[in-house]
Amino acid sequence: MFKHINIADSISALSTCKLCRRIALVVFIAIFFIEGAILIPSVVNFERDLLKRLELEGFQTVQSIFRLAPSEAAPADLLAAATKQMINSKLRGGALFDKSGEQLGKFGEEIGPNYSPKSTTSMKMMETVAGQRYEIMWTPKLIGAPYFIIARLDSSWIGFELVAFVGRIIGLVFLIAFFVTSVTSIILGSMVLKPVLALRKNLLAAGDDPSNPDRYKIENASEDELGDVVMAFNLMTKRIASDFHALEYKEQELLQSKIIAERANEEKSTFLASMSHELRTPLNAIIGFSEVIKTEIMGPLGNQQYVDYAKDINSSGQHLLSLINDILDLSKAEAGKLALNEDTFDIDDSLGEALRIIDPLAQKKALIVEVNLAENLPPLLADERRFKQILLNLLSNAVKFTPVSGQITVIIGINKTEELNVSVQDTGIGIKAEDLPLILQEFSRVEDNQTRTIEGTGLGLPLTKLLIEGHGGRLDIESEYGEGTTVNFYLPASRLIAQAA
Ligand SMILES: Nc1ncnc2c1ncn2[C@@H]1O[C@H](COP(=O)(O)OP(=O)(O)O)[C@@H](O)[C@H]1O
Ligand SMILES: [Mg+2]
Repeated sequence: MFKHINIADSISALSTCKLCRRIALVVFIAIFFIEGAILIPSVVNFERDLLKRLELEGFQTVQSIFRLAPSEAAPADLLAAATKQMINSKLRGGALFDKSGEQLGKFGEEIGPNYSPKSTTSMKMMETVAGQRYEIMWTPKLIGAPYFIIARLDSSWIGFELVAFVGRIIGLVFLIAFFVTSVTSIILGSMVLKPVLALRKNLLAAGDDPSNPDRYKIENASEDELGDVVMAFNLMTKRIASDFHALEYKEQELLQSKIIAERANEEKSTFLASMSHELRTPLNAIIGFSEVIKTEIMGPLGNQQYVDYAKDINSSGQHLLSLINDILDLSKAEAGKLALNEDTFDIDDSLGEALRIIDPLAQKKALIVEVNLAENLPPLLADERRFKQILLNLLSNAVKFTPVSGQITVIIGINKTEELNVSVQDTGIGIKAEDLPLILQEFSRVEDNQTRTIEGTGLGLPLTKLLIEGHGGRLDIESEYGEGTTVNFYLPASRLIAQAA
């Protein structure tokens, strides 16, 4: 059991380890108090023994008086012998009484008026001057002569003896406490603290490097609870490492899948971009020529039906072109290839143009359009065409998804963090909370009885979001189903060009 003990190691462990010092201190104090509690009664016992000794010595002195007096029967002789005895004993004075309690004479220091043979006839002992004098009365029966004798004895030495005794005891208690603490510390240090410190060191190290458990394995675990802890630690680090490796493997797999998915998305964007480009050329021809036909520039068609067909071809072509443009923009933006043509322009001019385009549609549905522009808006540094496209997309959604006689409010201002804040609010059909995350995905439209008849492709919002983000801004949609929708977007403060006053 003690095979691990190494005193030098233990001492160095103790001196550097806070926990060890605290344990040693607690052990020392505990032992000190326990020893003290055990030894205090022995001090009391010791005092009692000293008093016994005083009584015994006093009695021996009295016996000597009787032995040394020339005539044991004569009080004068006895008093003279007593006076002599005072020199080499603790006797400092006293008085002699006859059997009936009459005082026959006294010697040395005056005795106190504490008691006399007249009031009590049994042996008595009492401290008369604290720490200095004791008085004892012996009866004729104890002395073996027809006298009571009260002797005044010096007890000052008892105090000194007691102090010396207590001093010795305190020294002893210190010594024992120190010894026990040292032994406990050495045993604790070797058998408990050393493995605990090793555990601490390896735990800290393993925490930083969880994939190499063998480096932090703790060898030769003892066969006790600490050994169990050490073994559990070894097992745990191993297990964490294997989990860690599994995680790393999973992460690699995920990364691989992500790369594949990204590549697929890129390929999709490239495909869409080239397709859109290929489609636009013939489409422009269709639009251009149908325009020529429907306006009958080169002569009448002869049949109104033909004119109507040409109009249909033209408007369908326009619709298809805007759809293809959106797809092209979106795939470019997704591939990060959307080039911004930046310039400074007035925000209210852009808004005015967008509103002019939206106005006929709004009037058709009798919508109220309210505009609230902050005063002195500085010019905006952005791609003006894209900015108008953003406004148009949000306004067209507001118009599309707001029933007859609703209201649309556009607010443009600067927020607390100095960003440009554009807000488009409507009192339309709103979006359900669960649909909110979906509508920003491409081709995603909320289909229900209310919206089924509304035209659209589901490209507007995703493109709008990318356009805003392309300008370093962000989009935020809030909606209450059946109540209305508020779309806010923010462009960075750096895009607002302060004018020289
Ligand atoms: N202002 C709005 N009010 C209610 N629903 C809206 C609003 N704006 C967008 N949505 C919902 O988000 C969907 C996606 O919008 P968007 O990407 O612009 O596509 P589209 O306008 O072509 O339908 C819409 O189909 C509609 O369901
Ligand atoms: Mg739209």
